[in-house]
Amino acid sequence: MTAPATTLLELPDEERQDAASETAYQGFLARLSHQSVVKHYDAYADIPWDDPAYAIDPEDPRFELSADDPLGATVWYRSQPQPVRARIGLHMTATFARTGRAFESVLKRGLLEFAARLPEDAPEFRYCYHEVIEEAHHSLFFQEFVQRVRRAGLDVRPPAIVGAGERQVIRFGRRFPELFFFFVLSGEDPIDWVQRRALASGAELHPLIDRISRIHVTEEARHMAFARHYLRRHVPALRGPKLFVLRLRTAIVMKVATQLMMRPSRHVVRTYGIPKSVLREAYGRRSPGAQRARAALGKPRELCWELGVLNARWAPFWKLLGIYAPRGA
Ligand SMILES: [Fe+2]
Ligand SMILES: [Fe+2]
Repeated sequence: MTAPATTLLELPDEERQDAASETAYQGFLARLSHQSVVKHYDAYADIPWDDPAYAIDPEDPRFELSADDPLGATVWYRSQPQPVRARIGLHMTATFARTGRAFESVLKRGLLEFAARLPEDAPEFRYCYHEVIEEAHHSLFFQEFVQRVRRAGLDVRPPAIVGAGERQVIRFGRRFPELFFFFVLSGEDPIDWVQRRALASGAELHPLIDRISRIHVTEEARHMAFARHYLRRHVPALRGPKLFVLRLRTAIVMKVATQLMMRPSRHVVRTYGIPKSVLREAYGRRSPGAQRARAALGKPRELCWELGVLNARWAPFWKLLGIYAPRGA
């Protein structure tokens, strides 16, 4: 049975309880698993795809980028005809959804690898399977959305880099779960940040985007809580080359993830002829886009500070990548 629609209205905050002791950790996992039973959503039963109000018109003004979006704020974007502004907004959203589906595919396979190496009685096993099931529904609704956008006439393509190195990340689920769970947070946290901001902005969203975002934010709160707790319990024990690799690759993955999820793909840039100067203005160094990407990484970067994955010695590298902010910023 799935949760009634009303529960979609309250967006839960991530569980922040201290799970340092073994008993507290077990209780935390039991609560997460229970929530997955009483508050979960089905990609088809809980989204009225065929309701006429949910139909997609690529020129619907609700798809336009807002004035606080880095590209949406540029004079170039504002001077496009209304139908083009809407198409660009929808095309970007659908590309993010397609990228999200690819990311979640890696995530699910990595989680299965992680679960496969757990002891028989590990409480994480049940929770991981709940998470895999939830991510499968997310992939179904992302893909259904992308297909409907395609049928409405937009050629949605995943960015070329999507899929690169995925076998290796999946293997980390078994061999290097600390790196795997930082990969998870690098993808989940910025999407969550973007979706929560859109929902809180007060702007009128297309009902399909509103519904998908609310379901996603609700379930992702559990996924991120689990990843953070896992990392807090295991990263402090890492030393030597493993810690070095974790520091290096976590920073790179965060950079790549925000690039993929927060700026138009090359295909979108080409389709609408977005000039280079406009891209620089929106996403270059010290641009609104760079600032937004740094803000979206706030939570995982704080965790990196807390666990020593980011420290004074590594700060220059983060600055070089354009994702640095001081602790507590
Ligand atoms: Fe998801
Ligand atoms: Fe997730």
